[in-house]
Amino acid sequence: MSSEYLTTKGYDAAIPIHAVSHTGLKHWLETLSPAQSRWVRDNNFTGDKNDILKLAGADGGLAAVAFGLGASDDLTDPWAIASVVKNLPNGQYRLMDDKAPSLEPIIWALAQYKFDHYLKKKNSRNAVLVLKDKHNLKEITAIISAITLVRDLVNTPTCDMGPSHLSAVMKDLSGRHGADFSETLGRDLLHKGFNAIHAVGRAATNQPRLLDMVWGRMDAPKVTLVGKGVCFDTGGLDIKPSGGMRIMKKDMGGAAHTLGLAQLIMESGLDIRLRLLIPAVENNISGDAFRPGDIIKTYKGTTVEVDNTDAEGRLVLCDALALASEDNPDLILDFATLTGAARVAMGPAIVPFFTDDDALARSLAQYSESENDPVWRLPLYAPYAPGLKSDCADLNNMGSGPYGGAIMAALFLKHFVDRPEKWVHFDVFAWNMTDQPGRPKGGEAMGLRTVFAYLKSRFCK
Ligand code: BES
Ligand code: MN
Ligand code: ZN
Repeated sequence: MSSEYLTTKGYDAAIPIHAVSHTGLKHWLETLSPAQSRWVRDNNFTGDKNDILKLAGADGGLAAVAFGLGASDDLTDPWAIASVVKNLPNGQYRLMDDKAPSLEPIIWALAQYKFDHYLKKKNSRNAVLVLKDKHNLKEITAIISAITLVRDLVNTPTCDMGPSHLSAVMKDLSGRHGADFSETLGRDLLHKGFNAIHAVGRAATNQPRLLDMVWGRMDAPKVTLVGKGVCFDTGGLDIKPSGGMRIMKKDMGGAAHTLGLAQLIMESGLDIRLRLLIPAVENNISGDAFRPGDIIKTYKGTTVEVDNTDAEGRLVLCDALALASEDNPDLILDFATLTGAARVAMGPAIVPFFTDDDALARSLAQYSESENDPVWRLPLYAPYAPGLKSDCADLNNMGSGPYGGAIMAALFLKHFVDRPEKWVHFDVFAWNMTDQPGRPKGGEAMGLRTVFAYLKSRFCK
């Protein structure tokens, strides 16, 4: 596994990139030739934040690049390097002062990502960062490849990323890492009791299924990942307005996160027994579609009244989470593009998470900070749970009012986890609404680096 944007060969010959602050300017000028320092002055480069300046050498070729840090000597925004990369011609570069040594190479590569699969004109960007030594290169590369996988999976439209395609992706991943893969398809879901997964997915031509992958030493600590794999969410009969439906190819973003994380865990050889469960469905409409008012007997035995067919994520997840609980994992992590309410509460970039384990929550918050990958705890506020009551079933799939939607959905899921103190639920957006440096519009991995850092600290050999 290697990244086309990183290497350890040719460090000395690579073009240097200097991070220059207001106070560092003077010192940096002293290292330049008289012609170069005149060029710096004549261009009014003073180290202002986000300013970029390219310097020529005596032969007229690109000899150095500077980018401004502003008043602070620290890199307050590690994504700043992404704007620099975008401005560079293809070539080999080195960072003179690694302000965020392991994050910068990751951002360097991510900044050159383009989803060009369907374009005639392919991405020709190839600015290569030369690292001083091999230290961490393997892990950095694995992280880049996991995030790239998440982006690609989310960006691929449903015509090519339906339940069967998601299954093929997981089967391929299993094959590459010697994991065991199995799937329960179509009506077999009913035979095994996964009635909620079947109900949500049965209207679609691409049949619903539950994907299951197991990897690692059987007596190692058990970590189970569960990802919402709604390959497209029309909303079902309670159909979504067109604006909201427009980006619903991304409703398998949770599944994409768990696939990326699983790949990263296996590539890094964490000593865990990993299990990955993905209920893969398309929430579509046909004469056979499930309806508001239907009552589903879920895998756990709990009956659920369907108040709204657009609250389908929690339905497919409830069967998968109940199954996940059966072999008593030490940790269950689920990722799901579950609610619009999570976006209202946190905005697009911060991933809310829910858990009853305070120590785990604190630890995630710490890694979130150190990894520069925002996640934020929201409460599983028990007094809201009665809001999920139904008149004629054990539960309702929607809260009774418009408030606290992300919390209501999390409380619904909690009902299906046997040991909720060993469970974390992430309500991810998996999508960049706009182009930002290093984070192009479209599919995005969010919270993945944070979770991986946590898993590494807890389970690394
Ligand atoms: N996939 C959506 C949630 C979603 C919408 C995530 C937009 C990100 C952006 C989910 O299936 C859904 O439709 N949720 C409903 C739940 C409601 C019907 C209780 C929602 O959030 O509106
Ligand atoms: Mn929905
Ligand atoms: Zn959905």
